[in-house]
Amino acid sequence: MTARLPRKITRRSFLSSSSKVVLGVSGLILGNTALFYYGVAHGQKQEDPTTKEIPSSFVKIGEVERLKALTGFERVYYTATIVDAWVKTPKQGFVYVTKDERGALVILSPACTHLGCTVEPATEAQRSRKRELFFWCPCHGAEFDIVGNDVFMGLPRLETYEPYIIEGHVYVDIATPMK
Ligand code: FES
Repeated sequence: MTARLPRKITRRSFLSSSSKVVLGVSGLILGNTALFYYGVAHGQKQEDPTTKEIPSSFVKIGEVERLKALTGFERVYYTATIVDAWVKTPKQGFVYVTKDERGALVILSPACTHLGCTVEPATEAQRSRKRELFFWCPCHGAEFDIVGNDVFMGLPRLETYEPYIIEGHVYVDIATPMK
């Protein structure tokens, strides 16, 4: 029976092997870093609403200058296309545009957070009995204030949309309400 003797490691072979390992690891790190930046750059291109390519789910609400002077509310109708992977779904509807107490624009979904009926602006008579009332739901009587907060039934607030300013106009992404 013959025992295998360990190979003798020379200084030259040790240095050669070590440098190959170091080069391999460096290559892996550089490759991953390059892929990471490629992904980040492409992700931003799709999601950044300030690029020239405005996504089809973005809805133009109106000129910034005109909306700055808004008092009360405005109803803005829209037509959009919601793209989910390869599925394109046309969507039509409207949003209410109001302002909060600091003058910031508030874009509200008209869908009641009880069972989804469309909320309506409150009448003068309704508002005279409850000062904070601004929108009400004809289905079961839910009431909301000017920024969509419930003031009667303890419901969640109306959904809102983040306003994006692109080339002097306000847009919202109708596919992505803020909760
Ligand atoms: S759906 Fe609006 S109160 Fe019921």
